[in-house]
Amino acid sequence: MTSTDSKTTGAAAAAPILQIKDLNVTLRKEQELIPILHHVNLTVHAGEIVGLVGESGSGKSMTASAVTQLLPGGSKSLQGSINFCGEELTTKSEKEMAHYRGKEIAMIFQEPMTCLNPVFTVGQQLEDVICTHQHLQGGEAHARAIAMLENVHIKEPEKMLKAYPYELSGGMRQRAMIAIALSCSPKLLIADEPTTALDVTIQAQILGLVKEAADKAGAGVIFISHDLGVIAQVCDSIAVMYSGEIVEAGTAVEVLTTPRHPYTKALLAAIPGFTPKGAERLELCAIPGMVPDPREHMDGCRFAPRCSVCGENCTAKHPPLHVAGDGRSVCCWKEAEAGDTAITAS
Ligand SMILES: Nc1ncnc2c1ncn2[C@@H]1O[C@H](COP(=O)(O)OP(=O)(O)OP(=O)(O)O)[C@@H](O)[C@H]1O
Ligand SMILES: [Mg+2]
Repeated sequence: MTSTDSKTTGAAAAAPILQIKDLNVTLRKEQELIPILHHVNLTVHAGEIVGLVGESGSGKSMTASAVTQLLPGGSKSLQGSINFCGEELTTKSEKEMAHYRGKEIAMIFQEPMTCLNPVFTVGQQLEDVICTHQHLQGGEAHARAIAMLENVHIKEPEKMLKAYPYELSGGMRQRAMIAIALSCSPKLLIADEPTTALDVTIQAQILGLVKEAADKAGAGVIFISHDLGVIAQVCDSIAVMYSGEIVEAGTAVEVLTTPRHPYTKALLAAIPGFTPKGAERLELCAIPGMVPDPREHMDGCRFAPRCSVCGENCTAKHPPLHVAGDGRSVCCWKEAEAGDTAITAS
């Protein structure tokens, strides 16, 4: 058993921090209803990093926005359950959600400037969060701010506290944002493409910080990326999203070494130098076509028009979700037609 397997198995024994069940999200724009998420299921345990991967427009950020109840304005409908530490978030008021955001559920994004206020120093912003959520004042809040910056391996924390965001490099700004996000010891950290804009060295350092948040602080993490190569470096389990659906999920080892959904296989084939175990690599393959517009109704599998193994069933009827006993799930007609021991859910 690998360390990742044992970590996931150990985490699975405890109650999850987050459990999303059968989540459907529809947005209304003027007179139009736009179905964005379809039957999304996702579970995150303490200390576990769950990767949410898929191309642009597949619904990763919308899933995160549903958890924080920060879906785009206008009227929207949200069905299903989002259970966070035993509390149902879908029925919380805006005031109640404000208690969770920032304190129990923290977020980091690709562009730190979306979170950092340009007119305040890092120290003012970090100490403000610590005062509000940790109820510490003055010297205690300052000491805690220094400790948080040291946690994200900032060598001169006093200097950093006095700096304005625009004075920092991209990597330093990302560290400051992570320090602010972790300063309240959140139970859940949502990292939405936090390394996309960074060079590989800084990217590796930021991935290390996310791992530390899970390993040392015990936070559950949803790590969002369009890059399966990045996901492979940091995640314990993986959910692959396509056009608003999770098409495959399982432990990172399983999904990466024995991908079952044609979309997962195609994503892996698009990573330079990556060959799944037992597979023959012939050439680096881009996936033809694009993620469909969410307004586009399809009777069958939403990946069918781009799928290299698409059959008759695939365009006619939506594939059933196969959930294997070990928690591995795949939503594909080929899996259903293979008819092994999997349990079929609608
Ligand atoms: N404000 C909005 N109004 C209507 N549709 C939206 C809105 N924001 C996003 N969408 C649509 O919702 C779908 C999912 O978008 P989402 O932002 O979750 O994708 P993503 O997987 O995070 O992509 P990316 O990798 O580009 O960040 C897309 O089709 C997108 O066009
Ligand atoms: Mg996104």
